[in-house]
Amino acid sequence: MKVTVVGAGAVGASCAEYIAIKNFASEVVLIDIKEGFAEGKAMDLMQTASLMGFDTQITGVTNDYSKTAGSDVAVITSGIPRKPGMTREELIGINAGIVKTVSASLVQYSPNVIIIVVSNPMDTMAYLAHKSTGLPKNRIIGMGGALDSARFKFRLAEALGCPQSDVDGMVIAGHSDTGMLPLTRLAVRNSVPVSEFLSEEKLAEVAEATKVGGATLTKLLGTSAWYAPGAAVSSMVQAIACDTKKMFPCSALLEGEYGLKDISIGVPCIIGKNGIEKIVEIELSDAEKAKLAESADGVRAVNNLL
Ligand code: NAI
Repeated sequence: MKVTVVGAGAVGASCAEYIAIKNFASEVVLIDIKEGFAEGKAMDLMQTASLMGFDTQITGVTNDYSKTAGSDVAVITSGIPRKPGMTREELIGINAGIVKTVSASLVQYSPNVIIIVVSNPMDTMAYLAHKSTGLPKNRIIGMGGALDSARFKFRLAEALGCPQSDVDGMVIAGHSDTGMLPLTRLAVRNSVPVSEFLSEEKLAEVAEATKVGGATLTKLLGTSAWYAPGAAVSSMVQAIACDTKKMFPCSALLEGEYGLKDISIGVPCIIGKNGIEKIVEIELSDAEKAKLAESADGVRAVNNLL
Protein backbone atom coordinates (compact mmCIF):
# COMPACT_ATOMS: atom_id res chain seq x y z
CA MET A 1 0.00 0.00 0.00
CA LYS A 2 1.43 3.32 -1.13
CA VAL A 3 -0.02 6.46 0.42
CA THR A 4 0.65 10.03 -0.66
CA VAL A 5 0.03 12.85 1.77
CA VAL A 6 -0.13 16.25 0.09
CA GLY A 7 0.84 19.05 2.48
CA ALA A 8 3.52 18.26 5.07
CA GLY A 9 2.14 20.80 7.53
CA ALA A 10 0.54 20.12 10.88
CA VAL A 11 -2.25 17.76 9.73
CA GLY A 12 -0.29 16.09 6.91
CA ALA A 13 2.71 15.26 9.09
CA SER A 14 0.52 14.02 11.93
CA CYS A 15 -1.41 11.84 9.51
CA ALA A 16 1.86 10.40 8.08
CA GLU A 17 3.10 9.75 11.61
CA TYR A 18 -0.02 7.80 12.66
CA ILE A 19 -0.05 5.82 9.41
CA ALA A 20 3.59 4.84 10.01
CA ILE A 21 3.07 3.96 13.68
CA LYS A 22 0.13 1.72 12.76
CA ASN A 23 2.51 -0.04 10.35
CA PHE A 24 -0.02 -1.08 7.68
CA ALA A 25 1.43 0.84 4.70
CA SER A 26 4.66 -0.03 2.93
CA GLU A 27 5.26 3.52 1.72
CA VAL A 28 4.20 7.07 2.54
CA VAL A 29 5.18 9.97 0.28
CA LEU A 30 4.90 13.42 1.81
CA ILE A 31 4.73 16.19 -0.76
CA ASP A 32 4.71 19.95 -0.17
CA ILE A 33 5.21 23.09 -2.20
CA LYS A 34 7.64 24.57 0.35
CA GLU A 35 11.20 23.70 -0.72
CA GLY A 36 12.76 21.02 1.48
CA PHE A 37 9.89 21.01 4.00
CA ALA A 38 8.45 17.57 3.21
CA GLU A 39 11.98 16.13 2.95
CA GLY A 40 12.72 17.45 6.45
CA LYS A 41 9.47 16.12 7.95
CA ALA A 42 10.02 12.73 6.30
CA MET A 43 13.60 12.48 7.57
CA ASP A 44 12.55 13.45 11.10
CA LEU A 45 9.75 10.85 11.04
CA MET A 46 12.07 8.15 9.63
CA GLN A 47 14.41 8.77 12.56
CA THR A 48 11.58 7.59 14.84
CA ALA A 49 11.22 4.23 13.03
CA SER A 50 13.61 2.25 15.26
CA LEU A 51 12.15 3.90 18.36
CA MET A 52 8.49 3.40 17.44
CA GLY A 53 8.98 0.03 15.70
CA PHE A 54 7.58 0.62 12.23
CA ASP A 55 8.78 -0.43 8.76
CA THR A 56 6.85 2.06 6.63
CA GLN A 57 9.22 3.96 4.31
CA ILE A 58 8.48 7.69 4.47
CA THR A 59 9.95 9.95 1.80
CA GLY A 60 9.52 13.67 1.27
CA VAL A 61 9.46 15.57 -2.03
CA THR A 62 9.00 19.15 -3.14
CA ASN A 63 6.23 19.38 -5.72
CA ASP A 64 7.44 16.41 -7.83
CA TYR A 65 4.31 14.33 -8.46
CA SER A 66 6.21 11.67 -10.43
CA LYS A 67 7.34 10.40 -6.99
CA THR A 68 3.70 9.83 -6.02
CA ALA A 69 3.07 7.53 -9.01
CA GLY A 70 1.11 4.38 -8.28
CA SER A 71 -0.38 5.63 -5.01
CA ASP A 72 -3.34 3.60 -3.76
CA VAL A 73 -4.55 6.39 -1.49
CA ALA A 74 -3.80 10.12 -1.45
CA VAL A 75 -4.70 12.53 1.33
CA ILE A 76 -5.05 16.23 0.47
CA THR A 77 -4.18 18.48 3.42
CA SER A 78 -2.54 21.23 1.37
CA GLY A 79 -3.88 24.72 1.87
CA ILE A 80 -4.20 27.27 4.60
CA PRO A 81 -5.75 26.52 8.01
CA ARG A 82 -8.01 28.97 9.85
CA LYS A 83 -6.83 31.47 12.45
CA PRO A 84 -8.80 32.28 15.61
CA GLY A 85 -12.16 33.86 14.76
CA MET A 86 -12.16 32.62 11.15
CA THR A 87 -14.72 30.20 9.74
CA ARG A 88 -13.71 27.26 7.54
CA GLU A 89 -15.67 28.86 4.70
CA GLU A 90 -13.35 31.89 4.63
CA LEU A 91 -10.55 29.66 3.32
CA ILE A 92 -12.29 28.87 0.06
CA GLY A 93 -10.53 31.32 -2.28
CA ILE A 94 -7.00 30.04 -1.74
CA ASN A 95 -7.79 26.41 -0.98
CA ALA A 96 -10.06 25.80 -4.00
CA GLY A 97 -7.21 26.62 -6.40
CA ILE A 98 -4.81 24.38 -4.48
CA VAL A 99 -7.21 21.41 -4.24
CA LYS A 100 -8.05 21.56 -7.94
CA THR A 101 -4.41 21.56 -9.12
CA VAL A 102 -3.31 18.99 -6.57
CA SER A 103 -6.16 16.57 -7.47
CA ALA A 104 -5.29 16.80 -11.17
CA SER A 105 -1.60 16.06 -10.50
CA LEU A 106 -2.46 13.12 -8.26
CA VAL A 107 -4.75 11.51 -10.83
CA GLN A 108 -2.21 12.09 -13.61
CA TYR A 109 0.34 9.86 -11.85
CA SER A 110 -2.04 7.53 -9.98
CA PRO A 111 -5.13 6.94 -12.14
CA ASN A 112 -6.57 4.39 -9.66
CA VAL A 113 -6.05 6.51 -6.58
CA ILE A 114 -8.63 6.94 -3.79
CA ILE A 115 -8.51 10.56 -2.61
CA ILE A 116 -9.28 11.68 0.94
CA VAL A 117 -9.93 15.42 1.06
CA VAL A 118 -9.10 17.22 4.31
CA SER A 119 -8.53 20.86 3.26
CA ASN A 120 -11.30 23.24 4.33
CA PRO A 121 -14.04 24.13 3.66
CA MET A 122 -13.93 20.35 3.36
CA ASP A 123 -17.39 19.46 1.97
CA THR A 124 -16.95 22.02 -0.80
CA MET A 125 -13.36 20.91 -1.46
CA ALA A 126 -14.52 17.28 -1.75
CA TYR A 127 -17.29 18.38 -4.15
CA LEU A 128 -14.72 20.33 -6.17
CA ALA A 129 -12.42 17.28 -6.31
CA HIS A 130 -15.36 15.21 -7.64
CA LYS A 131 -16.26 17.80 -10.26
CA SER A 132 -12.73 18.57 -11.39
CA THR A 133 -11.36 15.01 -11.60
CA GLY A 134 -14.53 13.17 -12.66
CA LEU A 135 -13.36 10.14 -10.63
CA PRO A 136 -16.03 7.57 -9.67
CA LYS A 137 -17.81 8.81 -6.56
CA ASN A 138 -16.54 5.99 -4.34
CA ARG A 139 -12.98 7.24 -4.84
CA ILE A 140 -13.33 10.74 -3.38
CA ILE A 141 -13.93 10.84 0.36
CA GLY A 142 -14.14 13.95 2.51
CA MET A 143 -12.81 13.66 6.06
CA GLY A 144 -14.79 15.59 8.66
CA GLY A 145 -17.31 13.32 10.35
CA ALA A 146 -14.65 10.91 11.64
CA LEU A 147 -13.00 13.79 13.47
CA ASP A 148 -16.26 15.42 14.62
CA SER A 149 -17.49 12.05 15.92
CA ALA A 150 -14.23 11.56 17.87
CA ARG A 151 -14.75 15.00 19.39
CA PHE A 152 -18.38 14.07 20.19
CA LYS A 153 -17.22 10.90 21.98
CA PHE A 154 -14.66 12.94 23.93
CA ARG A 155 -17.39 15.35 25.10
CA LEU A 156 -19.85 12.52 25.85
CA ALA A 157 -17.30 10.62 27.96
CA GLU A 158 -16.41 13.86 29.74
CA ALA A 159 -20.07 14.53 30.61
CA LEU A 160 -20.68 10.91 31.64
CA GLY A 161 -17.42 10.59 33.59
CA CYS A 162 -16.61 7.32 31.81
CA PRO A 163 -13.89 6.03 29.44
CA GLN A 164 -14.27 7.04 25.79
CA SER A 165 -14.23 3.35 24.85
CA ASP A 166 -17.59 2.97 26.65
CA VAL A 167 -19.37 5.49 24.42
CA ASP A 168 -20.41 5.57 20.81
CA GLY A 169 -21.85 8.42 18.80
CA MET A 170 -21.83 9.91 15.37
CA VAL A 171 -21.79 13.37 13.82
CA ILE A 172 -23.22 13.77 10.33
CA ALA A 173 -24.04 16.67 7.93
CA GLY A 174 -21.79 19.59 6.98
CA HIS A 175 -18.33 19.98 8.52
CA SER A 176 -18.90 23.48 9.87
CA ASP A 177 -19.62 25.02 13.29
CA THR A 178 -23.27 25.58 12.42
CA GLY A 179 -23.82 22.70 10.00
CA MET A 180 -22.69 19.73 12.09
CA LEU A 181 -25.35 17.38 13.44
CA PRO A 182 -24.26 15.35 16.49
CA LEU A 183 -26.82 12.53 16.68
CA THR A 184 -27.46 12.69 20.45
CA ARG A 185 -30.60 10.54 20.08
CA LEU A 186 -28.50 7.60 18.85
CA ALA A 187 -25.50 8.07 21.18
CA VAL A 188 -24.94 5.22 23.62
CA ARG A 189 -22.92 4.31 26.69
CA ASN A 190 -22.36 0.54 26.71
CA SER A 191 -25.34 0.12 24.36
CA VAL A 192 -27.67 2.17 26.63
CA PRO A 193 -28.94 5.49 25.19
CA VAL A 194 -27.04 8.38 26.79
CA SER A 195 -30.38 10.11 27.45
CA GLU A 196 -30.74 7.58 30.31
CA PHE A 197 -27.78 9.25 32.04
CA LEU A 198 -27.76 12.87 30.85
CA SER A 199 -30.47 15.54 30.96
CA GLU A 200 -31.68 17.16 27.75
CA GLU A 201 -29.85 20.38 28.73
CA LYS A 202 -26.59 18.50 29.31
CA LEU A 203 -26.92 16.70 25.98
CA ALA A 204 -27.52 20.02 24.25
CA GLU A 205 -24.32 21.34 25.90
CA VAL A 206 -22.38 18.27 24.69
CA ALA A 207 -23.70 18.79 21.15
CA GLU A 208 -22.76 22.47 21.20
CA ALA A 209 -19.24 21.80 22.54
CA THR A 210 -18.82 19.22 19.76
CA LYS A 211 -19.91 21.64 17.05
CA VAL A 212 -17.46 24.33 18.14
CA GLY A 213 -14.76 21.71 18.88
CA GLY A 214 -12.49 22.94 16.08
CA ALA A 215 -13.01 26.63 16.93
CA THR A 216 -12.25 25.98 20.62
CA LEU A 217 -8.90 24.43 19.68
CA THR A 218 -8.12 27.13 17.12
CA LYS A 219 -8.55 29.71 19.87
CA LEU A 220 -6.26 27.80 22.24
CA LEU A 221 -3.60 26.92 19.65
CA GLY A 222 -3.66 30.03 17.44
CA THR A 223 -4.17 27.70 14.46
CA SER A 224 -6.32 24.63 13.82
CA ALA A 225 -5.74 21.26 15.45
CA TRP A 226 -3.65 18.40 14.04
CA TYR A 227 -3.47 15.32 16.32
CA ALA A 228 -7.13 14.29 16.13
CA PRO A 229 -7.46 15.28 12.43
CA GLY A 230 -4.32 13.25 11.61
CA ALA A 231 -5.57 10.28 13.63
CA ALA A 232 -9.00 10.43 11.97
CA VAL A 233 -7.46 10.38 8.48
CA SER A 234 -5.09 7.55 9.40
CA SER A 235 -8.05 5.43 10.59
CA MET A 236 -9.79 5.96 7.26
CA VAL A 237 -6.63 5.10 5.29
CA GLN A 238 -6.28 1.97 7.44
CA ALA A 239 -9.89 0.97 6.67
CA ILE A 240 -9.04 1.16 2.95
CA ALA A 241 -5.66 -0.58 3.28
CA CYS A 242 -7.00 -3.42 5.43
CA ASP A 243 -10.42 -3.50 3.73
CA THR A 244 -12.12 -3.38 7.14
CA LYS A 245 -15.57 -2.17 5.89
CA LYS A 246 -15.72 0.02 9.02
CA MET A 247 -18.36 2.72 9.13
CA PHE A 248 -17.26 6.37 9.30
CA PRO A 249 -19.35 9.45 8.67
CA CYS A 250 -17.69 10.86 5.53
CA SER A 251 -18.42 13.60 3.06
CA ALA A 252 -19.76 11.59 0.12
CA LEU A 253 -21.27 12.68 -3.19
CA LEU A 254 -25.00 12.04 -2.83
CA GLU A 255 -27.32 11.10 -5.66
CA GLY A 256 -30.65 10.99 -3.89
CA GLU A 257 -29.59 9.42 -0.58
CA TYR A 258 -31.14 11.28 2.37
CA GLY A 259 -33.17 13.19 -0.21
CA LEU A 260 -30.08 15.11 -1.38
CA LYS A 261 -28.47 15.35 -4.80
CA ASP A 262 -25.33 16.86 -6.34
CA ILE A 263 -23.74 17.67 -3.00
CA SER A 264 -20.91 16.23 -0.94
CA ILE A 265 -21.88 16.12 2.75
CA GLY A 266 -21.32 13.99 5.84
CA VAL A 267 -23.26 10.71 5.95
CA PRO A 268 -22.39 7.27 7.36
CA CYS A 269 -20.27 5.30 4.88
CA ILE A 270 -18.75 1.83 4.81
CA ILE A 271 -15.06 2.22 3.97
CA GLY A 272 -13.07 -0.60 2.40
CA LYS A 273 -10.57 -1.32 -0.38
CA ASN A 274 -12.79 0.46 -2.95
CA GLY A 275 -13.15 3.62 -0.87
CA ILE A 276 -16.79 4.39 -0.11
CA GLU A 277 -18.36 0.95 -0.58
CA LYS A 278 -21.81 1.87 0.68
CA ILE A 279 -23.68 4.91 1.92
CA VAL A 280 -25.72 3.79 4.93
CA GLU A 281 -29.15 5.40 5.17
CA ILE A 282 -30.07 5.45 8.85
CA GLU A 283 -33.59 6.38 9.94
CA LEU A 284 -33.58 10.04 11.00
CA SER A 285 -36.25 11.81 13.04
CA ASP A 286 -38.15 14.68 11.40
CA ALA A 287 -36.12 17.22 13.39
CA GLU A 288 -32.84 15.56 12.30
CA LYS A 289 -33.99 15.48 8.67
CA ALA A 290 -34.77 19.19 8.86
CA LYS A 291 -31.34 19.94 10.36
CA LEU A 292 -29.59 17.89 7.65
CA ALA A 293 -31.52 19.76 4.94
CA GLU A 294 -30.59 23.10 6.53
CA SER A 295 -26.95 22.04 6.76
CA ALA A 296 -27.04 21.02 3.08
CA ASP A 297 -28.33 24.51 2.20
CA GLY A 298 -25.27 25.93 4.00
CA VAL A 299 -22.88 23.65 2.10
CA ARG A 300 -24.58 24.55 -1.22
CA ALA A 301 -24.15 28.26 -0.46
CA VAL A 302 -20.39 27.68 -0.11
CA ASN A 303 -20.32 25.47 -3.25
CA ASN A 304 -21.88 28.40 -5.11
CA LEU A 305 -18.78 30.47 -4.29
CA LEU A 306 -16.62 28.12 -6.43
P1 NAI B 1 -0.48 23.86 7.58
O1 NAI B 1 -0.35 25.27 7.16
O2 NAI B 1 0.26 23.40 8.79
O3 NAI B 1 -0.06 22.89 6.37
C1 NAI B 1 -0.49 23.08 5.07
C2 NAI B 1 0.66 22.72 4.15
O4 NAI B 1 0.20 22.75 2.81
C3 NAI B 1 1.84 23.70 4.25
O5 NAI B 1 3.03 23.00 4.60
C4 NAI B 1 1.92 24.30 2.84
O6 NAI B 1 3.25 24.58 2.42
C5 NAI B 1 1.28 23.19 2.02
N1 NAI B 1 0.81 23.62 0.70
C6 NAI B 1 0.21 24.77 0.33
N2 NAI B 1 -0.06 24.77 -0.98
C7 NAI B 1 0.37 23.58 -1.46
C8 NAI B 1 0.36 22.98 -2.74
N3 NAI B 1 -0.16 23.59 -3.81
N4 NAI B 1 0.90 21.74 -2.87
C9 NAI B 1 1.42 21.10 -1.81
N5 NAI B 1 1.45 21.63 -0.56
C10 NAI B 1 0.94 22.85 -0.40
O7 NAI B 1 -2.05 23.58 7.74
P2 NAI B 1 -2.75 22.37 8.51
O8 NAI B 1 -3.01 22.77 9.92
O9 NAI B 1 -1.99 21.13 8.24
O10 NAI B 1 -4.19 22.33 7.79
C11 NAI B 1 -4.28 21.92 6.44
C12 NAI B 1 -5.71 22.04 5.94
O11 NAI B 1 -6.52 21.07 6.59
C13 NAI B 1 -6.39 23.39 6.22
O12 NAI B 1 -7.18 23.77 5.12
C14 NAI B 1 -7.26 23.10 7.42
O13 NAI B 1 -8.34 23.99 7.53
C15 NAI B 1 -7.70 21.69 7.10
N6 NAI B 1 -8.18 20.91 8.23
C16 NAI B 1 -9.27 20.12 8.00
C17 NAI B 1 -9.79 19.31 8.99
C18 NAI B 1 -10.96 18.45 8.69
O14 NAI B 1 -11.55 17.88 9.62
N7 NAI B 1 -11.36 18.29 7.44
C19 NAI B 1 -9.18 19.30 10.34
C20 NAI B 1 -8.01 20.13 10.46
C21 NAI B 1 -7.54 20.92 9.44
